[in-house]
Amino acid sequence: MGRAFVYVILGGGVAAGYAALEFSQRGIAPGELCIISEEATAPYERPALSKGFLLPEAPARLPAFHTCVGSNDQRLTPKWYTEHGIELILGTQVKSADVNRMTLTTATGETISYKTLIIATGARALKLEEFGVRGSDAENVCYLRNLADATRLVNIMQTCNEENAVVIGGGYIGMECAAALVTNRIKVTMVFPEAHCMARLFTPKIADFYEAYYESKGVNFIKGTVLSSFENSSDGKVTAVVLRDGTRVPTNMVVVGIGIRPNTGLFEGQLVIEKGGIKVNGRMQTSNSSIYAVGDVATFPVKLFGNEFRRLEHVDSARKSARHAVSAILSPDKTSDFDYLPFFYSRVFTLSWQFYGDNIGEVIHYGDFLAGRFGAYWVNKSRIVGAFLEGGNREEYEAIAKAVKLKIVAQDKAEVEKLGVEFVTKV
Ligand code: FDA
Ligand code: NAD
Repeated sequence: MGRAFVYVILGGGVAAGYAALEFSQRGIAPGELCIISEEATAPYERPALSKGFLLPEAPARLPAFHTCVGSNDQRLTPKWYTEHGIELILGTQVKSADVNRMTLTTATGETISYKTLIIATGARALKLEEFGVRGSDAENVCYLRNLADATRLVNIMQTCNEENAVVIGGGYIGMECAAALVTNRIKVTMVFPEAHCMARLFTPKIADFYEAYYESKGVNFIKGTVLSSFENSSDGKVTAVVLRDGTRVPTNMVVVGIGIRPNTGLFEGQLVIEKGGIKVNGRMQTSNSSIYAVGDVATFPVKLFGNEFRRLEHVDSARKSARHAVSAILSPDKTSDFDYLPFFYSRVFTLSWQFYGDNIGEVIHYGDFLAGRFGAYWVNKSRIVGAFLEGGNREEYEAIAKAVKLKIVAQDKAEVEKLGVEFVTKV
């Protein structure tokens, strides 16, 4: 039993959706392309799951956030795929891959062959069990990676009105879910090991602002520690979280966001792996020239950082790396190496920030931290290599992005601090 395609996209997430759009815009024949996804739905904008999807009023629901609405492009519904002759093989897990035979084998034993493969398998949420804590499969403990997880989270939130939640992890999921829980009138305690939230990106001063804001919304922070165990009721629900120092935090539900692991497993030993991801060149091509990798699973050279290899876990990179791979496949002579400016963002409550570039070097903070109009530049070798801005407008965000792309010189620290965002809007 088997099917054959010219192009196969393995994974049906953000990158898959953007790759499909690029294939259709560049022109392929009906029946040439298929997407194989473990999920039961056509590709959608994953960021919606921790934002609009969790709202108590008028929440976002499919089909409203299918790709590629996140970049104001066409919305690809299942009908769109049918009309464009792209086969969606949904609810189907690929269990093994053979890069020499150019085949994938699904959980039902079907063999699907390709001439060109795009790996877009993304990542999975890390489980507490991987850190020696047992019981995170309890009925009221949530992880958040896909639509099924988000649906479950919504259902559990609905049973916890005016009650308590513990959020484990102070990264993106932790911060965005804590805000959503508060909006759903649930009291939140956040527990994480670092000295401040968003430790991978925020400086202590930036984190102070967000923590104070969250505290003003009633969120309680327990920092510098991790949980050691759960307490459960007789029906198996978690009733309290026990921390390493023995502190007991009673709770009605738990949300866990402790990072991800890229889904590289099918290709380990077959393709070169670097920094936890599948290593690709500037055309998103792996160590096997018929196979490309994009999105969270790919480790690619970032031109702006002197071609240092990075693996990014953000939606903009998934969208653009996917489109770039398709361009390299269909128009090889017209496609140069991927020239990507790393871009991260988040929106919580009425706050909104953007970050471009790299957070290395000396940090210069600016603006009014009390009024929520502030930012920071990261300066390395007298040049701006990273820029953060809270509460900016479109022109300002474009200006900080451009400043990082051009690595503008920032020698006079006092002047940069005084001018703040104006230092770059005049570039
Ligand atoms: P993605 O995870 O989107 O898709 C992978 C797909 O592959 C899934 O459909 C999966 O089921 C499938 N798959 C994996 N293994 C398979 C197998 N063996 N067989 C079949 N299918 C398989 N970023 C950002 O910049 N801003 C934001 O606001 C947010 N918000 C956000 C919220 C939430 C809740 C999450 C989980 C993530 C974000 N992100 C984000 C991160 C962003 O969503 C992420 O970087 C992209 O989804 C990555 O896209 P990919 O296509 O690489 O993976
Ligand atoms: P993360 O890497 O952002 O944060 C993980 C956090 O887990 C750390 O900050 C730390 O506080 C905590 N942690 C690590 N080990 C722990 C342990 N043993 N016990 C308790 N806490 C521990 O990962 P995440 O928040 O889980 O997000 C998952 C993925 O989703 C990431 O790829 C992220 O980029 C993506 N995401 C992005 C956005 C956005 O860009 N706005 C929003 C949501 C999710």
